[in-house]
Amino acid sequence: MLSFFKKRKITIAIDGHSSCGKSTLARDLARKLKYVYIDSGAMYRAVTLYFIWHKIDIHNPDEIKKALESISIDFRYKRRKNLCYLNGELVEDDIRNAEVSDLVSDVAAISQVRKKLVALQQQYGSAKGIVMDGRDIGTVVFPNAELKIFVTADLEIRTHRRFQELKIRGMEMSFDEVKQNLIKRDHIDSTREDSPLCQAEDAIVLDNSHLSTKEQLNAVLKLTKLHI
Ligand code: CDP
Repeated sequence: MLSFFKKRKITIAIDGHSSCGKSTLARDLARKLKYVYIDSGAMYRAVTLYFIWHKIDIHNPDEIKKALESISIDFRYKRRKNLCYLNGELVEDDIRNAEVSDLVSDVAAISQVRKKLVALQQQYGSAKGIVMDGRDIGTVVFPNAELKIFVTADLEIRTHRRFQELKIRGMEMSFDEVKQNLIKRDHIDSTREDSPLCQAEDAIVLDNSHLSTKEQLNAVLKLTKLHI
């Protein structure tokens, strides 16, 4: 199957709810196919971190415009991971903190922010051979992606996964705080005016509530072959 993907590089869009395992799936898939992996959520988190650090008023379009002109985001492949850098500084841990998680969906609802990040995401994907995960990848960023997956999972299970992940990173948040954050972000992400989270018509739905990371990867590799 792998030789097939080497011959024909495609674009793979993975969207879904908060903390449903999209990033793990996208990263594993990219590794297997030797594709580039981009975590678009990390980009929205990096902008949010900048706004927090520089006390940007998210209701002031002029301040936002100026701030966006001063932000550069890039990914560098280290420790077998694509790590996120904000203006040259490694921010992979900072962008996952509670303050960023609390504000990121409000920042991601701002059209000025989306315009800048979507353009960057489309540049990353111009050569194909890319797996990108987010909320609007199959609908807005790459509407012509050859393969679109919409991932979902039970809320309790998603909460448990994020709670464990934060614990491993040494970040203190109670189970209920994590759950409330996921509920709040899903609501803002699904109801915002600009590019709301929704399933693309041609996306394949994957409920991974009861799948291990290995099982979800195998399921998508199979789907991919069948679909193409
Ligand atoms: O925590 P989780 O991994 O589920 O989320 P994320 O992928 O890190 O994304 C963080 C937030 O960025 C989301 O809750 C959305 O508000 C926003 N986002 C977006 O609006 N569009 C994307 N393509 C990716 C993320």
